[in-house]
Order: sequence, then C-alpha cells, then structure tokens
Amino acid sequence: MRIDVVSIFPGYFDALELSLLGKAKQKGLIDVRVHDLRDAAHDRHRTVDDTPTGGGAGMVMKPEPWGEMLDGILAESPDEPAETPRSEAHGPLIIFPSPAGEVFTQRMARELAQEQHLVFGCGRYEGIDQRVFDEYAERGRVRLVSIGDYVLNGGEVAAIAMIEAIARLLPGVVGNPESLVEESHEEDGLLEYPSYTKPAEWRGREVPSVLLSGNHAAIDAWRREQRIERTRRVRPELLPRELRGESRGRHAAE
Ligand code: ADE
Repeated sequence: MRIDVVSIFPGYFDALELSLLGKAKQKGLIDVRVHDLRDAAHDRHRTVDDTPTGGGAGMVMKPEPWGEMLDGILAESPDEPAETPRSEAHGPLIIFPSPAGEVFTQRMARELAQEQHLVFGCGRYEGIDQRVFDEYAERGRVRLVSIGDYVLNGGEVAAIAMIEAIARLLPGVVGNPESLVEESHEEDGLLEYPSYTKPAEWRGREVPSVLLSGNHAAIDAWRREQRIERTRRVRPELLPRELRGESRGRHAAE
C-alpha cells in the first residue's frame, strides 16, 4: 500500500519508523512518503495560512499550496485514476483528518486497508480553505475523518493513529494474524478479555484459577463471559442486541 502524508510538521511521522510499522516499511509492505506542505509555498516566508474571509478568530490554510502539493501526489499515484469522476472503485483516496468528519472505526480501518493508495492531508489552524475539499471531491474521492469527539491541534496525531490501525491489517505486517482476530472491536464487537502471564501470583494478586486449569473449554467460556461483562460495564452501546438482557425490554417499552 502506498501512503502519502502532507503536513507542515513532517517530523511527527518519524514515529512511523518505530516497531512493527518500521519493519513493514523496510519489508516494502507499506510505502509511506511524507511531504512538507511548505515546499509548495513559494513566498519568502513560505506562508501556508491567512486570515478567515468574512472575519473570525484564527487562521485558515490557503488553497494554493494544497493544490500544488496534492496535484503532484495524484499525478504520481500508482493507483489507476478514476474512469469517471466520483467513481467509488478506483483512484487514490484523500483523507483529511478533521473533528468535523465521520468517525474512524475498526470497520473503516478494514475498509481502508483494501485501498491501494491513501493520501492524508493534515490541516492545522482553524482548518483548510473549503475549496480544496470541493476541488478534489469533484476530481476523485475525498473523506473527512475524525478519530473521536475531541479536538486536537491538527491532523497529524489523528493521521498516525489511522495509519497504524490500517497498516497492521495488511498481510504480513503483524507477525501472527491470529492475534488480530480476538481483539476488541473485531469479530463480534465485544471488548477484549483481560490477559495474564507469569508469575501466577504477584503482590498477593493471583491469576484467575481457571486459566491455570488446562481446561480449554472452561477458559474459552470464562474469557467470553469477561468480554461480555466488560463491554456491558464500559461500552454498553456496543453490546449485541441478543446480549443486552433486561435493558432490551426496557428500551422496547420506551
Ligand atoms: N483534527 C483535530 N481534531 C481532530 C480529530 N478529533 N480527529 C481528526 N482530526 C482532527
């Protein structure tokens, strides 16, 4: 998978050199290229922002550097350009991390892991001139994506989170693919069960005895019960309908 990232702080993406993602880059499983938006700003101060038209607080990112940078990246895309504008099937997908976007989920990570070429456009300040989104949405595929209901200073941290979630789903990135299956948000939507390792007792705290029993059916049953209990307690909205128990009746009556 090819991933291009545009940012005025390319240094953020040094984090992608670490751990599994760094290895995946070395193995050629992902090809990540980070671009400094200021390279497409040509005045003496390499200006990328200006005051909001119509007034208001903060600064807005100017369209010209974005246009030059994105045109260059799209022209070099390894993905076939869309046959017809707005085609769902082909061409690179541009993602603008934004608190105003659709919410990123494991389902979206799986969907995006199928793409050939992703471009992340990381905005700063009060945002990017709307015409940039309009221009590229008309020419291809654009999505505004939020990683949660809180506000970051820019799209960089959000892009790193998304890239990690997507890249680890690519074949060969995570050593043991089975470890992807039992995670939170995968398969049945339940949260993960608690994990333990040796020693069997630490500071007076014992590993649950069922895990030492060697009885795999009992262990599986205990883990599933823990997942349901944890999901009910922490994220009740994720519980599948058939596991909601009494609350289902109450909602039905409301
Ligand atoms: N930029 C600022 N806040 C963000 C968020 N929550 N998600 C994605 N991009 C952002």
